[in-house]
Amino acid sequence: MNKAARGSLLGIEHLEAKEILSLLTQARRMNPRKPRPLLRNKRVLLLFYEPSTRTRASFEIAAKSMGAMTTLVLSSGSSIEKGESLLDTAYTLRAVGADIMVIRHPNAGAPLLMATHLDVPVINAGDGMHEHPTQALLDAYTILRHKKTLTGLQMAIVGDIYHSRVARSAIHLLSKFGARITLCGPPEFLPEVATSLAPGLHITRTVEEAVRGADAVMVLRVQKERLAGTKLRLQDYISRYQLTTARLKLAKRDVILMHPGPIIRGLELTWEVADCPQSVIVEEVHNGVPVRMAILAKALGKAN
Ligand code: NCD
Repeated sequence: MNKAARGSLLGIEHLEAKEILSLLTQARRMNPRKPRPLLRNKRVLLLFYEPSTRTRASFEIAAKSMGAMTTLVLSSGSSIEKGESLLDTAYTLRAVGADIMVIRHPNAGAPLLMATHLDVPVINAGDGMHEHPTQALLDAYTILRHKKTLTGLQMAIVGDIYHSRVARSAIHLLSKFGARITLCGPPEFLPEVATSLAPGLHITRTVEEAVRGADAVMVLRVQKERLAGTKLRLQDYISRYQLTTARLKLAKRDVILMHPGPIIRGLELTWEVADCPQSVIVEEVHNGVPVRMAILAKALGKAN
């Protein structure tokens, strides 16, 4: 197989710890309010085959705040709707002068396919159930603003782990730094094989066990249509797995509550928990901008 284009960020799994640290250090130097024109005259193509609010907006703001031009291509309203293949779309966008492509796609491996056929860096903004590396980086960045280190961090991840690219990338990243990760969810959303994702993963079937003593709790979105495919009724999910104030109290006093968004209040977490002082959900979104600035600048060889 061809090699992926230089500068591409396709996943966390194959990154080295030092590459992750270097991106996080670079992100700390980025200030979207006092930008430096590192990407002047660069054309950033944002190719979104799936809905997105946070990821799309923060990539766009990150790119623009460094002086780049951005073009957004959505699957609806483009030639993708007419049946154009991913690679033909990619070649077309390269031909109009893209210097880098950011892609979100429902199929795992779509960014890799593009990166092996193009001569410009490709950034994975979420591919199917595979990875969401930029989310994992902004999550690590957020944790490190509240905790000294990732090593030994007690992390609980609750919800639909199986379908979650956010969980997969977070697990890869955190386990590279020696975090202790506990996964919790119904068996349909958390098969035992999940423990093979990284060494030292634990599974618990009760939220209470997962959250007890945690330094950080990450709650994942649960899609009602996916629940419908399981034996679990919505009400059962809520009573067994919803993060409530009482459950969050079992964590350490200085716990941080994370969620990649979009949150569904009243389902995976209560209204009260969504707005509790321990919540860093809005901060995660905020941190997405400097982290994505660092990712774009590094990918184009413009980081310093
Ligand atoms: C997530 C995604 O699309 O993977 N959202 C995000 O990018 N912050 C999580 C989700 O949609 O549940």
